Amino acid sequence: MNNTQQFISENKQHFLDQLFDLLRIPSISADPAYSKDVHACATWIAQALKNSGADHVEICQTAGYPIVYGDKIIDRNLPTVLVYGHYDVQPADPLDLWDSPAFEPIIKKTEIHPDGAIFARGACDDKGQMFMHIAAFEAMMKTGELPCNVKFMIEGEEEVGSPNLSIFVKNNREKLKADAILVSDTGMLANDTPSITTGLRGLSYVEVEVTGPNRDLHSGLYGGAVANPINVLSQMIASLQDENNRITIPGFYDKVIELNREERDEMARAPFSHENYCKALDIRDTHGEAGYSTMERNSIRPTLDVNGIWGGYTGEGAKTVIASKAYAKISMRLVPDQSPEEITALFTKHFEALAPNSVRVKVTPHHGGEAAMTPIDFPAYLAASKAIEHTYGKKPIPVRSGGSIPIIALFEKELGLKTILLGFGLDSDAIHSPNEHYGLFNFFKGIETIPFFYHYYAE
Ligand code: BES
Ligand code: MN
Ligand code: MN
Repeated sequence: MNNTQQFISENKQHFLDQLFDLLRIPSISADPAYSKDVHACATWIAQALKNSGADHVEICQTAGYPIVYGDKIIDRNLPTVLVYGHYDVQPADPLDLWDSPAFEPIIKKTEIHPDGAIFARGACDDKGQMFMHIAAFEAMMKTGELPCNVKFMIEGEEEVGSPNLSIFVKNNREKLKADAILVSDTGMLANDTPSITTGLRGLSYVEVEVTGPNRDLHSGLYGGAVANPINVLSQMIASLQDENNRITIPGFYDKVIELNREERDEMARAPFSHENYCKALDIRDTHGEAGYSTMERNSIRPTLDVNGIWGGYTGEGAKTVIASKAYAKISMRLVPDQSPEEITALFTKHFEALAPNSVRVKVTPHHGGEAAMTPIDFPAYLAASKAIEHTYGKKPIPVRSGGSIPIIALFEKELGLKTILLGFGLDSDAIHSPNEHYGLFNFFKGIETIPFFYHYYAE
């Protein structure tokens, strides 16, 4: 064991205590009611960076929530790694589905995490994973074993689409100058099957509103004679996928890069059990686009999903009413080379054309972002692969993920830098859901692996 590893093993409780403090701050970026907490979280991160040994720590104000910056430049001739992460979290609701309060972290054992997991909103996405980098940095600093330069950029608006990060990046090209970007905000296949994420899907997110009559109507007096916006919206949504579960928006697949047989065979080598997959979700079968496997459907294929739908009477008992309006929030996950702006425009045009004359529709775009791909033959990937092989005893498998981190594509465009997605979460960690958790094994394995990444990258 080298000194850094020694330091980590002696400071496990110290790191855990700090993470618990961080998890107690309800830094929900989507809800303005938590604005003070999000700001407090930025202050906490800045202090943690200072304590860990970073220089030039700064809380950079933006039009939204601040970006926390800090660095350690040991030698300008050595490579520089830019660490990105986010300190904001998703809303915790529905609160009644949590077994313990979302912002009171607690360790509990699970089947997948027999050594225990930390339960709290943000435990995995992304406070637990982001904090591993501060902990690992502290260990390298305290032992004098930091082998290259490091810059930290921790934002507070990832969960709302990073609306201010692109401006910050454009205005701070010199400050953010680096050789590679390192991010822990993704997952692995399993604790005994390490993997590295090599791709993320893009996103186009829209909200639709269907308006029928100018007021809610008695469903007996008017029913049958006036279009019901909820019925119409349901039909319109249903028609967006055909019997093969392919998306029917004209032009939707035009820019999709199809993988060749070789690439698909390579993907199919990653272990996957249909039975376990279904069992974990309590479903009898999976569902998706004809001609593709489950692993392909949730990574290399684009999707369209309703994230929320509402309208009419949803209270106790029955109320006989035809609502004036119906709404839905719809996300489309994109793959290379689909453009979010183009897809949003195609969706809008198609959705408007679908609407019968009896209703009016309005489509409002929300945030979006491009898909990202990271190569498996660049120095940062090779360093990450070696680091994981060292700490897990197994070579990691390259895997494309279905999730999105829209800012990754922008980093490449604005900074000309590739990102290495060194994630340690598991799909079963329930990120964005009630009872989000992060394995203690994953947390400490991450802290242990990161210094080896720096070591191999600096070589
Ligand atoms: N960390 C996630 C993305 C993720 C998780 C990618 C697991 C791969 C594996 C990120 O915080 C996230 O939730 N992204 C959002 C998009 C964002 C614009 C709100 C997403 O994917 O829904
Ligand atoms: Mn995240
Ligand atoms: Mn997230």
